[in-house]
Amino acid sequence: MKNNITLALATANDIEYLVEIKTNNDFWPYGNDNNLDKNVQRQRISERITGGHERFKQFIILLTGGGKTVPVGELHIYKGKEERKCWEFGYCIFREFQGKGYATQASRIALTSAFKEWGAHKIIAQIAEINAPSLRVMEKLGFTREAVFREELPWNGGWINQYQYSLLEHEASSLSRKSS
Ligand SMILES: CC(C)(COP(=O)(O)OP(=O)(O)OC[C@H]1O[C@@H](n2cnc3c(N)ncnc32)[C@H](O)[C@@H]1OP(=O)(O)O)[C@@H](O)C(=O)NCCC(=O)NCCS
Repeated sequence: MKNNITLALATANDIEYLVEIKTNNDFWPYGNDNNLDKNVQRQRISERITGGHERFKQFIILLTGGGKTVPVGELHIYKGKEERKCWEFGYCIFREFQGKGYATQASRIALTSAFKEWGAHKIIAQIAEINAPSLRVMEKLGFTREAVFREELPWNGGWINQYQYSLLEHEASSLSRKSS
């Protein structure tokens, strides 16, 4: 039976699950902006979830197959300045579920909704230059690398670059190309 990826908007019941993800350094090895203090994260996540998901949409990525549904990661996407219609997104897939196309599939669902339903004109993502799996996800989704933020992230006692990728509304047809 085919496995199926869906996105569920997070609820108050998911707050502790998300706190664990956001504060686990294993998930975010490349100096992400995640604050590792659980109380700070708990407050931030609660505000986002109870904020009605208008500007900030927090999803749990679910995998259905073999008669059961399990969480395999998270995806968040949020709107910047209203007039720019620019949204930024990020994701994480638990280690045991990586490499099966799930981040790419989950992104396709969210990005398609962002363009078709939420009024996005541009969607961006920022990725450490050494995060090979995430760079590959960008490639599969048809994103363009549009900027290099030089030596932005601390890494192993030194610095690494961060790339910014984007996809524009008129490029969204790349999302329906099933390369994974
Ligand atoms: C980035 C991440 C979400 C990708 O999730 P995923 O479900 O494994 O992604 P997909 O399976 O859709 O695609 C991963 C691609 O990277 C490739 N890949 C994996 N490791 C790689 C490596 N070391 N070098 C090059 N490519 C690699 C996979 O083969 C796959 O490409 P393919 O479909 O052409 O074979 C996951 O690795 C993760 O959660 N990492 C930690 C959190 C994180 O870095 N989030 C992103 C912050 S910007």
